[in-house]
Amino acid sequence: MEDLVVNLGERSYPIIIKKGLIDETGIEIKKVFKGKKIFILSDKNVASYYGDKVKECLIKEGYNVRLMALEPGEETKSFNTLPSVYNELLDFKLTRSDLIITLGGGVIGDLGGFVASTFLRGVAFVQMPTSLLAQVDSSVGGKVAVDLEKGKNLVGSFYHPKLVLIDPNVLKTLSDRFFKDGMAEVIKYGCIKDREFFYFLKDLKTKEEVMNNIEKIIHTCCDIKRCVVENDEKDTGERMLLNFGHTLGHAVETYYNYSKFTHGEAVAIGMYEISKIAEAKGLTESGVAEDIKEILIQYGLPYEAPIKESSDILDTISLDKKNIDNVLKVVLIKTMGEAYLEKTTVDFFR
Ligand code: GLY
Repeated sequence: MEDLVVNLGERSYPIIIKKGLIDETGIEIKKVFKGKKIFILSDKNVASYYGDKVKECLIKEGYNVRLMALEPGEETKSFNTLPSVYNELLDFKLTRSDLIITLGGGVIGDLGGFVASTFLRGVAFVQMPTSLLAQVDSSVGGKVAVDLEKGKNLVGSFYHPKLVLIDPNVLKTLSDRFFKDGMAEVIKYGCIKDREFFYFLKDLKTKEEVMNNIEKIIHTCCDIKRCVVENDEKDTGERMLLNFGHTLGHAVETYYNYSKFTHGEAVAIGMYEISKIAEAKGLTESGVAEDIKEILIQYGLPYEAPIKESSDILDTISLDKKNIDNVLKVVLIKTMGEAYLEKTTVDFFR
């Protein structure tokens, strides 16, 4: 599969997608990094599967390597985790000429990327995403952040990696639920930018068929994201289209205190519900919501949430950071594969 390049001038970087790529980590890193020390940040689950393998590949190329494995889970992506990571980096005497590798899902990628962007005012880093969600979304585009007690991703920056290495084989150790979680974002790309891709996904009937096509699937998603990020790196226009399903999705996640639905599940609900509302208002071509519902059922994802008090959801949406001066920008689908931004208010959801 042809490598992708995110074209951002001197901050451009390749995305390599290949089954078995993890065994070639050392060779790929050697092409982009001439220094000595590499610090791998991972979580204990991922490290138990792939930590030694990645470390050994790098040692074989002559690098001095240290691996730090954090507790798995969203709680780790906290501002409070940072000092322990910075201390480990200081202990390892990592310099600005060295490298950080993030080996894990979105939590490790976002946290490790933020560490890389701030430690010694910036150290180069490489993303090795191991969850489907991270492979198709968070590892590309340079958004790095940590959570505060008052909310997610409240401290962060735009800081791009030097390279993204994606090995779809590592998805074999991902739980079924988190595979489906990533599929919600995959489906999103079809909805917003690629009608043909949406119906291609709809034609795949089993997980085996999906896995047989996984390189193409990840490549298509990363290519769409690459293009969107090149056009709107700082998220002031087209990049917002990537938030399709996210306004309601975030509100659903918040309503259930992040315990009932994964991010992808909440986005799945958000994509269907907003399309249903938009169809009723004549803003989305009729039949789109039904197509989305069908594909979500097919991929074992929810499309609605049993919310008793809808005013709670409306309150949460009104606190959304996209709701500025009572103008809420929502992402709608015009026709399958074509999204647009609609300026509205919270009343849209009433
Ligand atoms: N995950 C959405 C973005 O990177 O903009």
